[in-house]
Amino acid sequence: MELNRRTVIAGAAAAGIAATTLGGTAQASGGRAPVKKPFGTLADGTKISSWSLANGGTRLKVLDYGGIVQSLEIPDRHGRYRNVSLGFDTIEDYVAGSPYFGALIGRYGNRIGKGRFTLDGKAYQVSVNDGENTLHGGAQGFDKRVWDVEPFAEGSDVGLYLYYTSVDGEMGYPGTLRVKVTYTLTRQGDWRIDYEATTDKATVVNLTSHVYWNLAGEDSGSIHDHELRIAASRYTPVDSGLIPTGELAKAAGTPFDFRRAKAVGEDIRVAHQQLLYGQGFDHNWVLDKGVTAKPVAVATLRDPSSGRSLTISTTEPGLQFYSGNFLDGTLVGSGGTVYRQGDGLCLETQHFPDSPNKPSFPSTVLRPGQTYRTTTIHSFGR
Ligand code: GLA
Repeated sequence: MELNRRTVIAGAAAAGIAATTLGGTAQASGGRAPVKKPFGTLADGTKISSWSLANGGTRLKVLDYGGIVQSLEIPDRHGRYRNVSLGFDTIEDYVAGSPYFGALIGRYGNRIGKGRFTLDGKAYQVSVNDGENTLHGGAQGFDKRVWDVEPFAEGSDVGLYLYYTSVDGEMGYPGTLRVKVTYTLTRQGDWRIDYEATTDKATVVNLTSHVYWNLAGEDSGSIHDHELRIAASRYTPVDSGLIPTGELAKAAGTPFDFRRAKAVGEDIRVAHQQLLYGQGFDHNWVLDKGVTAKPVAVATLRDPSSGRSLTISTTEPGLQFYSGNFLDGTLVGSGGTVYRQGDGLCLETQHFPDSPNKPSFPSTVLRPGQTYRTTTIHSFGR
């Protein structure tokens, strides 16, 4: 069991342990070692901090609450910086009702039908929070937990280790899950996420990150002009509750074909049953490369107006492309403007939704003695 920060803090006591500032923040070449500042206070008195770090032209602000990326700034073709990730200015806004802006998602990213599954002959019922289904770990997922954060600077990299221990039975999931997530900013300005987890009982795990991207700037309106390419010939069609039917449908000849870059808005109004279910794109693409030991580039998003681009590389077999369909003009973002439908989009690397009930999908089962390990890299261009 490696993991660390004394092996992911001790069990149930985890939530009570305050984050401390550690050493290991020596200035890396070109990078800015993480700096901690107060961000606010939760209703129960817990102090929330933000961590700012920069490297290779990318500036990142992360909260210990939910491991949330509160801001991610990159330059455009003229060197002008904008925050390209939707978010809020205050902890109160995040707590009051964030649609997972920038957050770490677990234990199970995406949906499990009716919140039920059977593992080794035992039936489990987990927290239901999306109609009759479970979404993103249930009512109190990892996005709403306070993570223990430890900064680091190693060689030319700067970053944060984020630790959280999810106790046996939390949200209905079996096993104490010890989680370590590493956010690294590399000398090239890539934002890399390494996820690791161990368990003491067989369980299911699917960790991801829920950044809403708008490469023109978080307050600049629709992303429908952004061009997207996804290296996937198939996607997983869903029912009206957005649970996969189990089929791996061909993307060719449908609005779901993003193998050649096309504008997000090009086919979003096509009267296709799947787009009606999702109120736009809210589907898992079956990445042609499958599960890989090393991260492979699978998607590129580009904003023609600013020239900013994002390339995602991952070890994961799936990518949820969600076109911000449920943003409905009721939230005021960090730039002071209202977010409306399609003002941001998510590209969530993952195993497929409802895998615990779909034996033909790649397995999300983690057993004692195994270590869950996945990596996703965000590379920026202009
Ligand atoms: C995910 C889901 C969407 C939606 C958003 C949050 O991406 O797939 O259906 O729930 O999170 O609003």
